[in-house]
Amino acid sequence: MIDIHNHILPGIDDGPTNWDEALELARNAVENGITTVIATPHHAHELYNNPNDHRQVESLTEQLNERLKLAGIPLQVHSGQEIRVHQDLLDRWDEGETGGLLTLGYTQYMLIELPSSRVPEGTEELVYELILKGIIPIIAHPERNRELANDPEQLRRLVDNGALAQVTAHALTGVFGRGVEKAAWMMCAQGLIHFVASDAHHATKRSFGLREAYERIQEKMGVQAVHYYKRNAQLLLDNASIQPAAVTTAATEGAWSKVKQLFGLRK
Ligand SMILES: [Fe+2]
Repeated sequence: MIDIHNHILPGIDDGPTNWDEALELARNAVENGITTVIATPHHAHELYNNPNDHRQVESLTEQLNERLKLAGIPLQVHSGQEIRVHQDLLDRWDEGETGGLLTLGYTQYMLIELPSSRVPEGTEELVYELILKGIIPIIAHPERNRELANDPEQLRRLVDNGALAQVTAHALTGVFGRGVEKAAWMMCAQGLIHFVASDAHHATKRSFGLREAYERIQEKMGVQAVHYYKRNAQLLLDNASIQPAAVTTAATEGAWSKVKQLFGLRK
């Protein structure tokens, strides 16, 4: 299994504070059945700005891979970032090397994060501009954005314009509360989600939880949906195209009605 969003690199954000904690988190990933992760430390976040940090991310990734090898932990780490949407994002990208931005594993896919309370003005334009530049933005955990959770049609507009979206494993298993859980399932059921990822920060406090999330997906949406999400993570790593969710996750009518019934969906 591949995880495309987590905070496994130590000492750079609110993930592990040292190498021991990073290795513990890596063991947790392996126990979860994960073989490959893309490390995505915060970038341009109000608390974890990490300006021009792409070299630091790359160096920590290299060091972590070395340490994993020495410790005999079978996990492969790639470099990435979770980039907070900000006014200078496009300029930073245009600056190339000096802009400090990284896509996911040097692919065309960029993980972007919205603030939790709202969708900043200009987000639709940002998606449009990134796509013109050949970058496909992936919206991290839309279910935890209050505006998108209350009005998934807003997410649909971003997806219709070419963005992709990633739901968090723990949101699907209820760790963030009933409201977030419901929003997460609604988005999955409506074909607005393309990836499931852990957003893991800590081996015990906020771990990977991917296996459990996939079990729930299978239960509620059928095995096709599990294959769809897992395959997309691999396609991303291969820098290949991702198929629209609506086509592939429309599992069986039975699975759809279960989700609809469970959360009172109209569609
Ligand atoms: Fe994150």
